[in-house]
Amino acid sequence: MKSVSLRTLHHMKQEGEKSVCLTAYDATFALIAAQAGVDMLLVGDSLGMVVQGHRSTVPVTIDDMCYHTSAVSRGLDHSERRPWLISDMPFMSYATPEQMLNNAAKLAQAGAQMVKVEGGRWLAEGIRKLVERGISVCGHLGLTPQSVDALGGYRVQGRDTHSARQIYEDALELVDAGIAMLVLECVPAKLAADISQKLPVPVIGIGAGPDTDAQVLVLHDMLGVTPNLKPKFVRNFMDGAASIQQAIENYVKAVKNKEFPTEEHSF
Ligand code: KIV
Repeated sequence: MKSVSLRTLHHMKQEGEKSVCLTAYDATFALIAAQAGVDMLLVGDSLGMVVQGHRSTVPVTIDDMCYHTSAVSRGLDHSERRPWLISDMPFMSYATPEQMLNNAAKLAQAGAQMVKVEGGRWLAEGIRKLVERGISVCGHLGLTPQSVDALGGYRVQGRDTHSARQIYEDALELVDAGIAMLVLECVPAKLAADISQKLPVPVIGIGAGPDTDAQVLVLHDMLGVTPNLKPKFVRNFMDGAASIQQAIENYVKAVKNKEFPTEEHSF
């Protein structure tokens, strides 16, 4: 079995080849996505909304994340090409560096190859601890859904000069602390392009325009089955597809060929 490694993903960035990430929460969809050619899978805490039916990601626990991570990881045991597997650390599971280390270890034992944390420079100490102990970390800036109520809803971040500067500087600090990847969610395309160009690590965009190194979508959104939701940055890839696998293949192709996202999906 071939595996996508962190090295592969960093090499793709250097070569200007787009990489493709999708969320997955169970073994069956993880295998379908792997067979469709995604480079990375994210066990997102978005599962709190699309699987568990909560109104935000806040109720998701570390036990929930471990359960879904191990299901996804087992699904990948059957794939010919194993995507890189990232898992979200849920709300308050990394409030202190010690909690971050203990909970990241649980996710790693469940099968995660990298853990993702939402927030800026205050995370630097915890990230350093994880990296020192051999756990890879992905940052997440811009719209950070675990703080949705504090942010005043699901809205674009970094629109004014001051907040754009904050996001840019946070990205640099997180890289300095040791993140090996960064998600930028719902930020202006120009800001995401500048950060992607500056950082030595792959930047994964969602609602961040066409110029990031990689793209991620929530599985249910790109299959058009999320109720009452049609964010500007999503395309329904089931349109015209004969199967779920074909829809995901079309997503992979569209990102690799730079046909998605376009300006119409950007801020
Ligand atoms: O939880 C999730 O699915 C995520 C993506 C939206 C990036 O964090």
